[in-house]
Amino acid sequence: MKIHIVDDYEGMSAEAARIVADQLNRKKETVLGLATGSTVEGLYRELVKMNDKGLIGFENVTTFNLDEYIGLGPEHPQSYHYYMHRHLFGHVGIPAGRINIPAGLEEDSERTCRDYELAIKAAGGIDLQILGIGVNGHIGFNEPAGELKAETHLVDLSAETIKANSRFFESMDDVPRRAITMGVGSIMHARTIMLLASGENKAGAIKQTVDGPITTAVPASLLQLHGECILVLDREAASLL
Ligand code: F6R
Repeated sequence: MKIHIVDDYEGMSAEAARIVADQLNRKKETVLGLATGSTVEGLYRELVKMNDKGLIGFENVTTFNLDEYIGLGPEHPQSYHYYMHRHLFGHVGIPAGRINIPAGLEEDSERTCRDYELAIKAAGGIDLQILGIGVNGHIGFNEPAGELKAETHLVDLSAETIKANSRFFESMDDVPRRAITMGVGSIMHARTIMLLASGENKAGAIKQTVDGPITTAVPASLLQLHGECILVLDREAASLL
């Protein structure tokens, strides 16, 4: 693992944006794996600014988001479709046909998962996968468990994740209980992985990710097995290393 430690959230966002920009400028047809959440908002802000200045372009980029809640449509303000359009897609001109996010409203979710996995393969695989990390060490919605799934699948969210994500909803009861997520295999097949973390509350998960045993109890610890994994951390997130 390569670990980049910067001062704060702004520094993390700028460093991550620099890494994405290098990738886009090296390969115009880059396939990006994308995350949602508070951690990556600053990164998307930086990318929008760079795009506005003409420093990067998204015309030939293909994207695959990690996950989506079951039961929320694209117009729902807490859906990841909505988040992505608000923070990135609405500003950078990626052709709609190149944007992929698991569908949260399809009746046949198993089929949605299978098709998603095939679409990633058909696009040639993910060049750069961007990840946040849960306080419990989850990546995407691959929650700590005795077993993890390799491919895109349906998942029951853990009580910890429901609680953490309830800050975006009116009440805990409004947080969806299930989601579709790329699996740890879908993530690990990416050519490069970049995980971002900011703040003290992520320090324990980062410590276990970097120094802990490789275990399904901390899904991010599997990243130790990836040859091209970059961690961009602010000082607080790195404070236990
Ligand atoms: C979201 C995702 C999650 C988040 C993680 C951290 O697409 O895949 O794994 O990256 O829950 O969320 P924040 O950044 O809100 O702390």
